Amino acid sequence: MRSHLALCAALVIVFGALTSSAYAQDPNAARSLAATCFTCHGTDGISVGGVPPSLAGQDKKYLLQQMKDFKAGKRPATIMHQQAKGYSDEQLEQIAGYFAAVKPAATAPASRGGY
Ligand code: HEC
Repeated sequence: MRSHLALCAALVIVFGALTSSAYAQDPNAARSLAATCFTCHGTDGISVGGVPPSLAGQDKKYLLQQMKDFKAGKRPATIMHQQAKGYSDEQLEQIAGYFAAVKPAATAPASRGGY
């Protein structure tokens, strides 16, 4: 009985480790989380007109800190304090990493002028 319990505990730990690392390595997982931000911050965080600000290519540490400050109510916001509360700190880190890795120049339209 004792060894059976120990085996169960070991399996839970192994499966927990497997699923969390698989999640962290899936590049689509971070984009899926970040996609909810596209509505306001632009596709891939490239904001058109700068309101709300672009997230693409910003420093990961800066983005993460802003999200944590919104979540904790340290940074005043109209909307973002509610947005930030919907995510765990690990998810916020993934989202920050996703936007920091976007190269704004590479994905933005070549020309915005002319219309
Ligand atoms: C409903 C619209 C909306 C959505 C959805 C949204 N944001 Fe925002 N975001 C804003 C607005 C508006 C601001 C300006 C601060 C405020 O008034 O809340 C802002 C500000 C920010 C800032 C501060 C930028 C800076 O340069 O300091 C960050 C970081 C940010 N948002 C990240 C995110 C992330 C990450 C998501 C997705 C989880 C997200 N936002 C989803 C509207 C939105």
